[in-house]
Amino acid sequence: MQKKLNKIAKDTNLFLKKFINKQKKSELIIPMKYGLFSGGKKIRSKILIDIGTLFDLNYKSLIMVGSAIECIHAYSLIHDDLPCMDNDSIRRGKASTHIKFGESTAVLAGNSLLTMAFEILSNKDLKIPEKTKIDLINKISESSGHLGIAGGQYLDLSFEHKKVSKSKIIEMEIKKTGKLFSFCCVAPLILKRKNKKEIKKFENIGSDIGLLFQVADDLIDHRGSLFIAGKKTAKDKKRGKATLISLLGYKNTIKYANKLILKINNKLIKYGSKSKNLSETLEYILNRNK
Ligand code: IPE
Ligand code: IPE
Ligand code: MG
Ligand code: MG
Ligand code: MG
Repeated sequence: MQKKLNKIAKDTNLFLKKFINKQKKSELIIPMKYGLFSGGKKIRSKILIDIGTLFDLNYKSLIMVGSAIECIHAYSLIHDDLPCMDNDSIRRGKASTHIKFGESTAVLAGNSLLTMAFEILSNKDLKIPEKTKIDLINKISESSGHLGIAGGQYLDLSFEHKKVSKSKIIEMEIKKTGKLFSFCCVAPLILKRKNKKEIKKFENIGSDIGLLFQVADDLIDHRGSLFIAGKKTAKDKKRGKATLISLLGYKNTIKYANKLILKINNKLIKYGSKSKNLSETLEYILNRNK
């Protein structure tokens, strides 16, 4: 698993470096690269490729689509660490982007990474029909805006120090993290021009995978260490974040996550041994320490 993940990370970084190097230079490139290349598991790209293999898709196109996803993810982390959001000074074992370059530069580098995702998906080296490109851009925008990352981050901050119901916590986690995973799961179907019903099915699988990922992130915050996780831990409780752990307790949250894995795997049964990679990724997501 780790080997596969490393290969995907290497290929994604290679594509992104080439893409950025082809563009004209600017002062924002250095902070953008800092947010993009300073580590990062590339787990979203792994999910995209796992689903892509269910549908026999071309690896190179998947790496390009994955690179766009990773740009949005990197932007969301830069902004997540800002003083007006989670106010975190360490990310991936290094100083957060705003600590290193200043707040306004971090905001602008984040904005530039968000829009770079659209540049990548609309670029002419991605050799897919125009209609497919538009559908991809439409879906990835939806997963990043007020119904996705931005909306979820808004809820996350507004729920601080409040008693929030289980369904509201789940809604927040699916928006801030799940929607981008949803995109990872539907992008292969969009590339294959599958019908709306099939797309909807994978959108739901993606939300559950994203929810699992965020719940696992919350578990790492609860039990993990700065040294391994590469970011400060035990901060959700300190900031009064509404998480399933704060509502149900640590053990019940682990039970909940295991049930989620079962639910997702049940939906994959019909793909037989082809879904082995994905099931392996799900186990990794829950058991990781970083
Ligand atoms: C952390 O994401 C933020 C969440 C959405 C929970 P990752 O754990 O994927 O971060 P990197 O890219 O590997 O550092
Ligand atoms: C971040 O969630 C979700 C994003 C969309 C960036 P967290 O705030 O829990 O992520 P970490 O723990 O800081 O990485
Ligand atoms: Mg946050
Ligand atoms: Mg945070
Ligand atoms: Mg966290």
